[in-house]
Amino acid sequence: MKRIAILTSGGDCPGINATIRGIGKTAIVGEGMEVLGIHKGFSGILAGEYEVLDLSRLSGILHLGGTILGTAREKSLRERLEEGGDDLELFRHHFCSMGVDCIVAIGGNGTQKSAALISELGFPVIGIPKTIDNDVWGTEVTFGFDTAVSIATEAIDRLHSTAESHNRVMVVEVMGHHAGWIALHAGMAGGADVILLPELGYDLGEIERALRRREKAGKKHSIVVVAEGLRIEDKSRPAHRLCKLLSRNLQIDSRETVLGYVQRGGGPTAADRNLCTRIGGYATELIRSGVFGVMVAIRDGLVSHIPLRQTAGKLRTVPRDHDLLRQGLRMGISFGVDASTLL
Ligand code: F6P
Repeated sequence: MKRIAILTSGGDCPGINATIRGIGKTAIVGEGMEVLGIHKGFSGILAGEYEVLDLSRLSGILHLGGTILGTAREKSLRERLEEGGDDLELFRHHFCSMGVDCIVAIGGNGTQKSAALISELGFPVIGIPKTIDNDVWGTEVTFGFDTAVSIATEAIDRLHSTAESHNRVMVVEVMGHHAGWIALHAGMAGGADVILLPELGYDLGEIERALRRREKAGKKHSIVVVAEGLRIEDKSRPAHRLCKLLSRNLQIDSRETVLGYVQRGGGPTAADRNLCTRIGGYATELIRSGVFGVMVAIRDGLVSHIPLRQTAGKLRTVPRDHDLLRQGLRMGISFGVDASTLL
């Protein structure tokens, strides 16, 4: 009988529990495996903290946000294990005491880097990409992204009425770390007039021209969606900075809304739930076949896998020729830069 251990690492996001369920129920019911849940990411292995995940423990978690196993940021782990020595021996000791055939590491870029290191050190590991940022290289989509876009879109929808009532520019800052995937998809779905991506930067003159064009068309209110990774005046907090620039330089009345962690809260959308279930089942097939050192990935819409060494830590950002970006440009939506440089 095979025994697998699941861990969740890095920022939480909707869908982690659905993925744990997808792996666990497929393994137990479909493959007759045993399943352990490691607490608080890779550090849980160093601490020997884990639990048995049986069908009752996996019941009723499909729709739950967060992670029943807890999570942690893992950068220091890589440094500790790369140094070898006591920590590596401790890791090896607890790995052996768990008696597992594979570790399934659910996490974002940092986690996949840790999983690649663990694999190079000789441990059987499978990575599952997880982040609302959708910025893991090697997979077309990560679970959590659809839910974050849905949450952000619903918030943007609500801002249109207050913007119109006060003839204001509402500047909405969304998450995404260094990538603009959430800003692009939620901005387009939410009918934003200006969408600012870290991949493109910004030109205040272009932003002003876009807002003035709306004023001339009788629309004194606008929605600007900005990704948190955009640096304005080389500083963070882009919504706050942009509102100051609009007021100080352009005498435009604006207000900022930073959506922050609500984009990571609550349960996953139906689309994310089913993506998690598909990914979880595929990971279990890999384990049954003895395929390790890979990350589960969505390629051409299908669940597949790629070597961890290919993807570990590489960032996937919005390409300048992305079709949704190009479609926005064709509709007259401003991306804060000269459109002719993109079309
Ligand atoms: O990676 C997900 C994410 O929410 C990013 O969008 C955000 O920049 C970051 O995590 C925040 O990190 P933390 O949860 O450690 O504050």
